[in-house]
Amino acid sequence: MASKTTVRSEGGKVRRVVVVGGGLAGLMTVIKLCEAKVPVDLLSLVPVKRSHSVCAQGGINASVNTKGEGDSPQVHLEETAYGGDFLANQPPVRGMAEAAPGIVNMLDRMGVPFNRTPEGLLDFRRFGGTLFHRTAFAGATTGQQLLYALDEQVRRFEVEDVVDDHGVSIPGEKMVRKFEMWDFLEPILDDSGVCVGAVAQDLKTMQIRPFLGDAVVLATGGPGLVFGRSTNSVICTGTAAIAAYKAGAVYANGEFIQVHPTAIPGADKLRLISESARGEGGRIWVPKDKADKRAANDIPERERDYFLERMYPGYGNLVPRDIASRALFKTCFHEGRGIFDEATGKNELAVYLDLTHKDEKFLRAKLAGILEIYEKFAGVDPYKHPMKVFPAVHYSMGGLWVDYEADARGSLKAGSPRNHATNLPGLYAVGEVDYQYHGANRLGANSLLSCIYGGLVTGPAVASYRQAMAKSAFDLPKSIFEKAEKRATDDYARILTQNTDAKAPENAYKLHEELAETMLRDCTIERDNKALDGVLAKIGELDLRVKSVRVTDTSQRVNQGAQFVRHLENMLVLARVIAQGARNRDESRGAHYKPDFPRRDDERFGRTTLAVHEQVGSVKFVRAFDYTCAGETVHVTDAIDTSLVTPRERKYEQAGAASAAATGKLGSEPESKSGATTEAR
Ligand code: FUM
Repeated sequence: MASKTTVRSEGGKVRRVVVVGGGLAGLMTVIKLCEAKVPVDLLSLVPVKRSHSVCAQGGINASVNTKGEGDSPQVHLEETAYGGDFLANQPPVRGMAEAAPGIVNMLDRMGVPFNRTPEGLLDFRRFGGTLFHRTAFAGATTGQQLLYALDEQVRRFEVEDVVDDHGVSIPGEKMVRKFEMWDFLEPILDDSGVCVGAVAQDLKTMQIRPFLGDAVVLATGGPGLVFGRSTNSVICTGTAAIAAYKAGAVYANGEFIQVHPTAIPGADKLRLISESARGEGGRIWVPKDKADKRAANDIPERERDYFLERMYPGYGNLVPRDIASRALFKTCFHEGRGIFDEATGKNELAVYLDLTHKDEKFLRAKLAGILEIYEKFAGVDPYKHPMKVFPAVHYSMGGLWVDYEADARGSLKAGSPRNHATNLPGLYAVGEVDYQYHGANRLGANSLLSCIYGGLVTGPAVASYRQAMAKSAFDLPKSIFEKAEKRATDDYARILTQNTDAKAPENAYKLHEELAETMLRDCTIERDNKALDGVLAKIGELDLRVKSVRVTDTSQRVNQGAQFVRHLENMLVLARVIAQGARNRDESRGAHYKPDFPRRDDERFGRTTLAVHEQVGSVKFVRAFDYTCAGETVHVTDAIDTSLVTPRERKYEQAGAASAAATGKLGSEPESKSGATTEAR
C-alpha cells in the first residue's frame, strides 16, 4: 500500500487533485490544497481571470463592526438563516459567519484595494436583509479585485516545484498546472463508484482526455443560462453540475433560483446594477400616476412612489432580494405602473433606480464601476438621470448536495473529509455549484463570502480525504481512464455526426431559446402549478427534439457549436430538476413563490429537496440516502439542522426584524441602526 502521506503514488507518479473552475471558490480551494502540499491540476472553461466571479460587484459580508453598531458573527448567522427562510443547515452558516472577519482581513493583506474610511479602516456598506454596515467593498468591482488577488496567489504555486518526501524537487512538476479553456465532461468513477478523475475537452484543439485525480473538486458556478438572459456570464450553463448529477451525485434545492431586483433590461444579457447602489442610498420609484408620461427628472418628488420604502418602512430599498423583486414585478406587471416608454407608447417593465440626489464625487468613489456599465449599455448618464432597471435571474441557491460535519459548538469541524463532499466519494463541490449556505434566498454579498469560505474548508477536507485513501487514483488500472475517455469521445463523435442527413434537423440555439422563454416566464418570480405543468411538458418536448439537433459547425478546432449541443442537453436535465422541484413544493419560501400557496409550510416542506437522476426525461426525489466518505458510511436525510436559530415567520416590514428573529424581540431595532436606515433612504 502506498504511504498515506506521500506526494508520489506507488508507481512513482505525482498524486494530484483536480479542481474544476477558476473562480473564487476554485482558486481558494487550490491555495489551501497547495498549502497542504497537495499538487493540483486546475481546469477552467475560460481564462481564470474571466471566471464569472469577476462580475460580482457590491462586496463581501463580514461582521467586523468597525462602525460600532453592535454587529457580530452571531447576528450575521441569524440574518442569513432568517433571510434564507430557514432552508439552510445552520452549522455551515455559523462557520461562514464566524470566519468572515478573518477572510476580509486575509484579502486585505493579499492586497485587495478595499475602500477605506478617512481614518484608514476598512469601509463597510449596507446591503439587503440587514441594517448593519457589514459589506466590505472595492468600489463596485469587488469580485474582480478578489479574483485577481487570488489569481496572483495561485500563480505563485504555478512556479513552485513539487517536493518529494525527502524535500527534493521533482523535475518538471509544479504545484499547480493550469489548463484554461477546458470543458469538464464527466467525473471518472472506478469500479466501486469512487471518483478518481475527470474527463475534459480542450476547447481549442477539441482533444478529449482524462485527468487523474485522487479527488475532484467542482467549483463550476451557477446555471443562469437555463433561463437564457440573466446576470450570469454566458458560460454559466450548469453543465458540470449536471454531468455529475447524471453520474449519480444528488442535486439539492434546485427550485430555489434568485432573481435580483435591479438589472439593465437588455436584448442579449441582463447586466447587473449592484444592490450596493441602494446600499449607498439609491432609491427605487415609479410615478404615482401610471398615466404619467413625463421624463424622470420632470416628475417632482411628491409625485413619485418610492414603493419599497412605503411597503417596507423598516428596510426600505434594502429588503432581501426575493421580496424586492416580487414588489417590482407586482408594480410593473400586475399593476401596470412601470415607466412610460415613448417608443412603444406603453408602460414598460422597468422602474427607476435613482442616485441623482447623491454627490457625484461620492458616487465615483463608491460606485463608478457599475455606473460606467450603465452609461455604456443604456447610453444614459446615471449621475444625472435615474437608471431604468428590472429584476433578472441572478443566482442559484440550489446545487450539488454536499455534506458537512459539525463540531460540538455547532460550527464546522475543521479538516473533516465530509465537509463539501458530494455523495460520490472523492467528488467535492464548492461555490455556487453547491447548495450549502443560502437556504431559500441568499442575502446579497454572502456569495463571495461563501465561495471563499467554501474554498477554505474544501481544501483541508480534500487533503484529509486523500490522506485516508487506501490506494491512489494514480495506481489504478489504466483501463478505467481509457473507458471514460472513450465514452466521452464517442459521445462527442455522436454530437458531430448525428442527423447529418435529416430533412428537418433542429437547431440547438433555437431550442435553447424556447427552453429559456418558458423557464423565464413560468419558473422565476411567480410560480403556478398549471404553468409549471406546461413547463415540464415543454421540457419533455425539447428532450425529444434535442435528439434531432444537427450541429451548426463540424470543424476540428474551436467548435463552439458542438460544445453548445452538449451544454444544451445538460441544461434540459437541469431545467427538469428545477421545474419539477418547484411543482412539488406547494408553499412559498424565499425565492420560491406560489400565489396559490402564499405561506411557508414548515411541516410539509421544511426540508431539503434531494433530486436523483434516473434517466433523461425523469427525476426522482428521495427523502434519505447513504453515502461513504473516507471509509465512513453516512446516513443523510432531508431534515434541516435549525438548532442555532429557531425558524419563525419572516416580516421585513419592521426594522430589526431579522436580527431580532432569534431572540424573539421582533421590531427591536438596535439604537445605532436608525441613523443607517435614514441615511440609506
Ligand atoms: O448586487 C450585487 O452587488 C450582487 C451581489 C451578490 O449577488 O452578492
